[in-house]
Amino acid sequence: MRREARAACDGATIAYTDMGEGPAVLFLHGFPHDRTLWDAQLAALAPRARCLAPDLRGFGDSDATGPFTMDRYADDAACVLDHAGVERAVVVGLSMGGYVAFALWRRHRHRVRALALTSTRAAADDAATREKRHALIELARREGSRAVAAGQLPGALAAATREERPELVRAVTELQSRAPVAGIVGALEAMLARPDSTPDLPTIDVPTVVIAGADDALIRVGVARAMHAAIPGSSLVVLDRAGHLCNLERPAEFGAALDQFLSRVAPA
Ligand code: MLT
Repeated sequence: MRREARAACDGATIAYTDMGEGPAVLFLHGFPHDRTLWDAQLAALAPRARCLAPDLRGFGDSDATGPFTMDRYADDAACVLDHAGVERAVVVGLSMGGYVAFALWRRHRHRVRALALTSTRAAADDAATREKRHALIELARREGSRAVAAGQLPGALAAATREERPELVRAVTELQSRAPVAGIVGALEAMLARPDSTPDLPTIDVPTVVIAGADDALIRVGVARAMHAAIPGSSLVVLDRAGHLCNLERPAEFGAALDQFLSRVAPA
């Protein structure tokens, strides 16, 4: 059964989907998305897991109450677990959702049963990325979220996906275009201010899988390989013919990787 719930978390209402029965899996979306990013994964996993997918503060149906930081997103995620009555969850974070997962690990590691770090990186922003984020803040304020979505698309989907799957291009464009400007600006400020999580990697002592799209132009597969090497005992899955949003581009293969990981770490 799919339930839409709302938790009161530090001055904001955080909306989340709660679907399925079994070991808890917390899905953290990337930028500039909302919890519907995970719809295919929730539908596939619900028969054997309790899937919790929040809208990060400022996205979807969650309030855009600032200030926005990775720590605050992580505290909201812990608040959602509290609201759902879940002590520990397998945490699946995609890209910015991975940055939140690192903050969750630093602040609430006892809530993290295992980690699936997808299309993400541990490093903080370099100078060029910082410059791009400031420009994107200006663009969002001046022209709105549709303009932001247009700029994000080449990084979001692999070149082959963009050529061959117009329906997915449209769906991602729509998803990104409905992000509220306040949430977009807040997330960019949160990403700008986030610390380097590289020193945390060797401290991760829960089962971890690093998942990457072979054709991710935004976070190259070499970054995933380095992260895998730095996290003791982690495994690495590289999905062929997939870019940054590999869960949307290759839902069956992504689902199989997640399923295999879950049967290892959280047997139903
Ligand atoms: C995301 O997909 O969450 C973003 O592209 C991450 C980023 O811009 O660093």
